[in-house]
Amino acid sequence: MNIQEFIKLAEGRSSIRRYSNKEVSREVIGQIMESARIAPSAVNFQPWKFLIVTGEKSKAIVKESYPREWFATAPMYIIACGNHEEAWHRSFDGKDHTDVDVAIAVEHICLSAAAAGLGTCWVCNFDAAKLKADLSLSENMEPIAIIPLGYTEGDGDVRPKKRKTTDEIVRWLED
Ligand SMILES: Cc1cc2nc3c(=O)[nH]c(=O)nc-3n(C[C@H](O)[C@H](O)[C@H](O)COP(=O)(O)O)c2cc1C
Repeated sequence: MNIQEFIKLAEGRSSIRRYSNKEVSREVIGQIMESARIAPSAVNFQPWKFLIVTGEKSKAIVKESYPREWFATAPMYIIACGNHEEAWHRSFDGKDHTDVDVAIAVEHICLSAAAAGLGTCWVCNFDAAKLKADLSLSENMEPIAIIPLGYTEGDGDVRPKKRKTTDEIVRWLED
């Protein structure tokens, strides 16, 4: 893959908020999770766990934590969890890097899913305390993002991309 192809893949990934009920094969889920497994993390601590939610009982719990009509159309979910005790904390100020590490792995999931022709959407606006309690997650396991995963129905309700310009976000320090 060259850089143009990579940019095309990144541009092609959009938040999908309408899914078909077609199942995602275990083989493809395995490939997507491989892309998460090889993600980089601070000091290579890999402070993450991913829950693959395909069962009806568990899916109902996930949907209750983020009650949106579109979210319920997804055939499955991946819950990305972070373990703050396993993560690297910067020695200067103790900054916890759990969220940084988990975010990288989640974006690997979203990009590899896009490469496989699948839709995803980052979801963080869910009731994390309820989800954690209802799924009986261990104390140090924080659900950080839920990623609905599935084939797009129609155009997937994709919105036009709105981004700041390069000039707005890049500053060169050349002196
Ligand atoms: C950290 C993070 C949290 C997000 N949480 C939600 C969410 O809870 N619900 C939702 O509908 N979209 C959520 N989004 C999706 C963003 O709204 C979306 O990425 C942004 O509007 C850009 O659109 P695009 O993904 O289609 O390019 C989240 C995205 C990120 C990166």
